[in-house]
Amino acid sequence: MDTRPIGIFDSGLGGLTAVKALTQAAPWESFVYLGDTKNAPYGDRTREQIQALSRRNVRFLRGRGVKALLVACNTSTANAMDVMRAEAGDLPVVGVIEPAAAAAVSVTGSGRIGVLATAATVASGAYVQAVRRLARQATVTAVPCPRLVPLVESGRTDIADPELAEAVRTYCAPLLAAGVDTVVLGCTHYPIIRQVIRQALGADIALIDSGAASVGSLLKELEDRDALGDRSKDGRRQYICSGGAERFAALGSAFLGRDIRPDTVRAAL
Ligand code: DGL
Repeated sequence: MDTRPIGIFDSGLGGLTAVKALTQAAPWESFVYLGDTKNAPYGDRTREQIQALSRRNVRFLRGRGVKALLVACNTSTANAMDVMRAEAGDLPVVGVIEPAAAAAVSVTGSGRIGVLATAATVASGAYVQAVRRLARQATVTAVPCPRLVPLVESGRTDIADPELAEAVRTYCAPLLAAGVDTVVLGCTHYPIIRQVIRQALGADIALIDSGAASVGSLLKELEDRDALGDRSKDGRRQYICSGGAERFAALGSAFLGRDIRPDTVRAAL
């Protein structure tokens, strides 16, 4: 047993979709969540910038005495995994892309998989490589969606928001044209606007939540190391953001569907 917290990070609020899955699957686990809201979006940055920010996030969480790291950010996973593993030393580092690719491969019937992701994730080719490693015949249509994270971070997630609906329709059009039967929400912000994406894609296409997919891998890794927490107690929850703490608590509560107590949020970095 290991009751130290898990370190989780994202460029902002999107990684809370992984937190939601973690608290449902393993409510006993403690965690420290870092949202780098001041530097979001990561998806429009260069690989070098993403690596520098990701390395700093790992160093920061390592300094908080965590037992493992969940990189709840596709953009960091796609562009900085080696750098983060080097910084993490002996701590296990679990990313979102391999678990999401594995979930997509297990769900698809036609082998035609779509990915919606940030520009930097699509440019890295990480999803194409991860899917092809598991299913050589599969085809991947990956669409960069640069307008989505800024809309979500500004709290614009309503299905009735015409600008959001138009952006989502535009990004989904190439996936419909390619005839995909499965779409990976390859950015942890996108499950927050799942209904808008569902509306654009229709009812028959399977949607994969990359943050949720990664939680199974994380818990398996902890179990293999005999490092799960104390199941008889609720875990401790702590949130740290690099921008305004009040705003993080308010928007984050809406995204999580559960109150983030303002006294558990601290601005740092
Ligand atoms: N939520 C992140 C991801 O999964 C980062 C989005 C961004 O900051 O551009 O890619």
